[in-house]
Amino acid sequence: MTIRICLAGATGWAGSALALAIAKSDDITLVSAVSRTQAGRILGDVLNEPLLNCPIYASAQEALAHSCDVFFEFTKPDVAKSNVLAALEQGAQVVIGTSGLTEADYTEIAAAAEQRQLGVLAVGNFALTVVLLQKFAEIAARYIPQWEIIDYAEDGKKDAPSGTARELAYRLSNIRPSELTIPLEQTQGAIETRGARLTGSQVHSIRLPGYTISAEIIFGMPDQKLSIRHDSGSSAQPYVDGALLAIRKVNTIVGLRRGLDTVLDL
Ligand SMILES: NC(=O)c1ccc[n+]([C@@H]2O[C@H](COP(=O)([O-])OP(=O)(O)OC[C@H]3O[C@@H](n4cnc5c(N)ncnc54)[C@H](OP(=O)(O)O)[C@@H]3O)[C@@H](O)[C@H]2O)c1
Repeated sequence: MTIRICLAGATGWAGSALALAIAKSDDITLVSAVSRTQAGRILGDVLNEPLLNCPIYASAQEALAHSCDVFFEFTKPDVAKSNVLAALEQGAQVVIGTSGLTEADYTEIAAAAEQRQLGVLAVGNFALTVVLLQKFAEIAARYIPQWEIIDYAEDGKKDAPSGTARELAYRLSNIRPSELTIPLEQTQGAIETRGARLTGSQVHSIRLPGYTISAEIIFGMPDQKLSIRHDSGSSAQPYVDGALLAIRKVNTIVGLRRGLDTVLDL
């Protein structure tokens, strides 16, 4: 059985690396792709890979006219939710790699997935070291009631916090909210310096030249601290491996799941 994919963002940094990996796989095939600037062309001509003979469309709605099993979202947060809802409407399972969707977006997507009895796997970061960071942090949060999350990225990254930090905060909220010794409203000085309160965690986003993507969580107890940190390099390879796994696993779920570990046996 071949899994037929519609890939939105197939010409981007992450999407093109995924498309090239799909070309090499024998159980996944691309049937359509989305990119505004390359619409009307064949993906293989754009990526210089003759095995990718699928057409490119300017919108997900057009690309979804080709029947597919899985819609893969790798564009930008401003169009991601409507792309995902359009894919569910067409009866496709969905993998979301795009970061920057809000909790309200996920609530709407979860309701649509439940209603259609389809699986949506949203993964803020496909890298295995991030998947493990999330898992280790969940264990730590059961024992240590206070933590803060720091997300680091290059200065040109527009969305903040990162999908990785957002997903981590969301997951920890299922365990408990991080305790604050001094309530935020009692902060003396500039309250913004305490970061944003996001689903029960304080999150701080650093955007500076010189960074790629890193995520860190610091747990603090009297006289002891625990830091867990992921640093990514500059290639898209760690994301590609996780994305292929997500494509192969999304048909095993119904409704919205967040995080790659939800389909792994960790
Ligand atoms: N989950 C993970 O592990 C992971 C890993 C890497 C990246 N990401 C996230 O994935 C997203 C893409 O990242 P990237 O670095 O690949 O970005 P990118 O290089 O800018 O690529 C974006 C892709 O989406 C297309 N696109 C953008 N806006 C669009 C629109 N309005 N309609 C249709 N197509 C559109 C672009 O083509 P056109 O400009 O031609 O339309 C391009 O193909 C980001 O949200 C990023 O944070 C997640």
